[in-house]
Amino acid sequence: MNSELTTILSANPRYAAAYNEYMEIHKNGYGKNSTPEELATFEEFLERDFLNGIKQDSNEREELIRGDRLVIRKARIADADFMQSVELDADNAPWVANWPLGWRIAKFGDENFLQTVIEKTDGTPIGLLIFHGMRTVQEKLELKRIALIEKGKGYGKETLSLAQKLAFEVFETPYLYLGTKENNLRAQSIYKATGFTPDMPDPCTKFHITITEYRSANK
Ligand SMILES: CC(C)(COP(=O)(O)OP(=O)(O)OC[C@H]1O[C@@H](n2cnc3c(N)ncnc32)[C@H](O)[C@@H]1OP(=O)(O)O)[C@@H](O)C(=O)NCCC(=O)NCCS
Repeated sequence: MNSELTTILSANPRYAAAYNEYMEIHKNGYGKNSTPEELATFEEFLERDFLNGIKQDSNEREELIRGDRLVIRKARIADADFMQSVELDADNAPWVANWPLGWRIAKFGDENFLQTVIEKTDGTPIGLLIFHGMRTVQEKLELKRIALIEKGKGYGKETLSLAQKLAFEVFETPYLYLGTKENNLRAQSIYKATGFTPDMPDPCTKFHITITEYRSANK
């Protein structure tokens, strides 16, 4: 293992446990059919991203965009427990995956991902939003995950409007897309209500919005 990471892990038992837990999950679950070579390659990337995730972590609050009632800010390792609790919430877990601490730290260190926390303007966190594809944002960007713990108050729609503003006006992507489950009618209703178009012929599971569509809806 990278010696810098070894030093960090020996000084921080929680990070060490999270790292080892994720390696075990990968070996016993996702990596069930992996060859030793594939597992070694996986560990190489995990080590690199995990180390980056820890080194890039900060105590600074970094606001990305602010709306009438909500703020989207960059997530930090200190948000990991809250974020996982949102993903594991009984009304969210059927619809979104959850990342254990080790994987979340690694994803903080992977510049293709941007993890954010959604807060009310008074600072109360109410959910998360994850973008994927930050490295190739000039081609397209994926809204990988959205989940809230305070539902049915219009926060979902406001979050998506802010996410579009961020994607098109700040990151300057030409194309924002996402996927959902066929039976997730609640999510599909807010995607349509905020200007996303289904990728036909499938009207349910894949949605997108282009910069042209965004601009004409936000003149
Ligand atoms: C999807 C989610 C982000 C929406 O957030 P929200 O704050 O509840 O959304 P809003 O309050 O802005 O709007 C909810 C809309 O869904 C509608 N809705 C609720 N349940 C519905 C259902 N079963 N079928 C169809 N529409 C439904 C509401 O009527 C409302 O629309 P309206 O304002 O026109 O009446 C939130 O519900 C959530 O976290 N869900 C679990 C995780 C998830 O599914 N994420 C998406 C994965 S792709």
